[in-house]
Amino acid sequence: MKVTTICIALCLMVLHIEGKWRPEYNEDKIGNRRYRDAANEISTRRPHYRVGDPPDHNKVIPMARYVMHNTDWASIATISILPAIQGFPFSNIKSIVDGSLANSTGVPYFYMSPLDFTSQDLSRNNRASVLVSLEQTDYCIKEKIDAEDPRCTRLMLTGKMKKVREGTPEYTFAKAALFERHPAMADFPTDHNWFVAKLKIAQIAMIDWFGGAKYIPVKDYLAYNYTGTEMIQRYNELYGKHES
Ligand SMILES: *[C@@H]1O[C@H](CO)[C@@H](O)[C@H](O)[C@H]1NC(C)=O
Ligand SMILES: *[C@@H]1O[C@H](CO)[C@@H](O)[C@H](O)[C@H]1NC(C)=O
Repeated sequence: MKVTTICIALCLMVLHIEGKWRPEYNEDKIGNRRYRDAANEISTRRPHYRVGDPPDHNKVIPMARYVMHNTDWASIATISILPAIQGFPFSNIKSIVDGSLANSTGVPYFYMSPLDFTSQDLSRNNRASVLVSLEQTDYCIKEKIDAEDPRCTRLMLTGKMKKVREGTPEYTFAKAALFERHPAMADFPTDHNWFVAKLKIAQIAMIDWFGGAKYIPVKDYLAYNYTGTEMIQRYNELYGKHES
C-alpha cells in the first residue's frame, strides 16, 4: 500500500518534470509545428505546394539557385567610407538579376553609379555581402511563415565585387538581362555613369530549414544548370508574352 503510493508519487513527479521539458508545439492554422524542437518530425512535404514554388529543401543547390533567380533585388553590405561611420558595415538595396529570365547563371549582376554609397565604398574596399530571401517573393506570406523562419529561405553571398568590362559578351548579356527584369533602368539619368558589376562569390551561406546554416560549394552552385521557368511565366502573366 505504502509502496504503491510512493510509486504513484514518483511517477507523477517524473511526468511533471518531463511535461515541463517537453517542447511546446504551437500548431498554427496550416498545422506546421513552429519550433525548432519539432524539426525532426516535420514532414518535408509542404502543405500547399503550387507550381513554381521552391524545390524540396533537401535539394540545396536547386534551392539556392531558385532563391537567387526568383529575387529581383538584394541588400548589399559594404564597409563604409562615410566620414561619420568609417569602417562600419553599411547596407543598401540594389536591383539585381542572375541572368536573363530564360538563362540563370547564379551570379548576381548589378547596375551601378559612382554617385551611390555602395560603389563609393567598393572603390575603397571591394568586399561585400549580398542577401536575398524568399520573403521577397510571395512564398513566405502565402505559407504564413515569418521572414526569420528558417523555411523562408535566405542566401548570404560574400565575395569581391568586380566591374564587368564594357564591350565583352558578359557585359552585353548582363546589361540586357538587367534591363529585361528592370525596365525602369532604361530611364535612369544618363549622366550618372552607370556600369555593370557582379559579385565574385567566395562563400554562400544558406538557411532553408531548421538546424543551422548550410554552406553551398560555389563551384557546384555555379555549375548547376538551372532550368526553372517560373520567372518567365510570372513575367508573361504580368506583361504579356515574353519574346525570347
Ligand atoms: C546563357 O548564358 C551563358 C552565360 O553568359 C551563356 O554562355 C549561354 O550561351 C547562355 N545560353 C542561352 C541559351 O542563352
Ligand atoms: C541545361 O538543361 C537544358 C534542359 O534540359 C538543356 O537543354 C541545356 O542544354 C542544358 N545546358 C547545359 C549548359 O548543360
